[in-house]
Amino acid sequence: MENINESILKNPIYEVRAGVLFFDGCNTVELAQKYGTPLYLMSETEIVRRIDELRKSFVEPYVGKTDCRIVYASKAFCTIAMMNICEREGISVDVVSGGELHTAKAAGFPADRIEFNGNNKTREEIESALLYGVGRFIVDGLSELKIIESVIADNPSITYHPKILFRITPGVTADTHDHLKTAKKDSKFGIPLAEEVFFPQIERAINSELVDYVGLHFHIGSQLFDVKPYLDALEIALEKVREIKERYGFVVSELNVGGGFGACYVDEDRKQFGYFLAPVVEKIIEFYDNVLGTDPPEISIEPGRSIVAEAGATLYTVGQTKDIPGGTKYISVDGGMGDNIRPSLYQAEYFSAIANKMDSPCDDTVTICGKNCESGDILIRNAQLPLASSGDILCTFSTGAYCYSMSSNYNGNLIPAVVLCSDGKDKLIVKRQTNDQLVQNQLPL
Ligand code: LLP
Repeated sequence: MENINESILKNPIYEVRAGVLFFDGCNTVELAQKYGTPLYLMSETEIVRRIDELRKSFVEPYVGKTDCRIVYASKAFCTIAMMNICEREGISVDVVSGGELHTAKAAGFPADRIEFNGNNKTREEIESALLYGVGRFIVDGLSELKIIESVIADNPSITYHPKILFRITPGVTADTHDHLKTAKKDSKFGIPLAEEVFFPQIERAINSELVDYVGLHFHIGSQLFDVKPYLDALEIALEKVREIKERYGFVVSELNVGGGFGACYVDEDRKQFGYFLAPVVEKIIEFYDNVLGTDPPEISIEPGRSIVAEAGATLYTVGQTKDIPGGTKYISVDGGMGDNIRPSLYQAEYFSAIANKMDSPCDDTVTICGKNCESGDILIRNAQLPLASSGDILCTFSTGAYCYSMSSNYNGNLIPAVVLCSDGKDKLIVKRQTNDQLVQNQLPL
């Protein structure tokens, strides 16, 4: 594997000064001393740059033609501070549980810019979303629509008609890890397109007096690099749009094409947002013009990973090293699968560096392992690093998505703190969990 300096470090949020790694202008070794390790770092500069890139390739080019909306999929990194950034940047957020909704509420996030996704929302979650005034529900089936209607009917204080999109299962297969495919025909997500299932649900929603049915949603998978499956899924969705107009004279006014745009973890050649989005938007505009003969719909996307993955890094302290004669050289760090489950769950690959030895040659090949009692708790295999010693600060890159949000207390390890860095300034946005918090909900016999 290539030396880290050749790849991720090209991102201007990284700099090396006197052999030390700087992250968005902050000295990582000093951050490790100040806040302890393991420590998640997030770069505000990079998050804002990504949102800006999306705005430039997806929103601005279509002003005057149609409205394009960015909806951040908060599951990738869900914190109050991230909600604050999304609010400030004027984008919407997608939540998939009462907990993510609560985080948005705790941040005072505007309700009309929240979209509620998820394949099995509970009545309690739906009620709490409606009471807050959540703007859109991405409905996963008729039974969910019925719950929404019944909650509205039972609560005189809910006086608005939430916008409803149906999530459909277009039946396309994306080229990604099996766990990250979500649009196969036989999927737990979305409503199947078989005529006898699909149309009665659409008809019911169009005729509902309690909700404002507006459109269709699909999400084909995550960590994708090819636009073809998006276009295939879009074609299927547009065919449904045509049939809905033909059957009911109803023009779908909103299309949500999901997220899933790939991020760079090792040496992938990440695609610009325009690569995915320009052909999708153009196809929609052309279809509405030529086939439906109407104005285009509002188009939204739900990126998570592509906004935050590369904006994150994790710092660890190196502990034991073990050189197995004739075998592997292991470097143990003070975190692992509890703060980054992705290598064990999806065989995800990461790059790393020793933050205090950035000028040293990377002539050692090692396996970086965590401190959990699982032999699968390996963060990186065959990493090329300088000779590591106990006390060194190891940095893994591109950990901003699905690491903090999938962290766990397995083995009683504590969830690390998160520090937001911005142009040399550091701000604690999530405190490190404490041992007392670990047992706070537990009761003695
Ligand atoms: N919209 C929907 C309906 C989704 O299910 C997802 C991701 C997204 C948007 C955002 O996808 P993104 O742009 O972040 O790829 N834990 C896995 C990823 C699971 C993604 C689930 N859904 C991982 O660590 O790779």
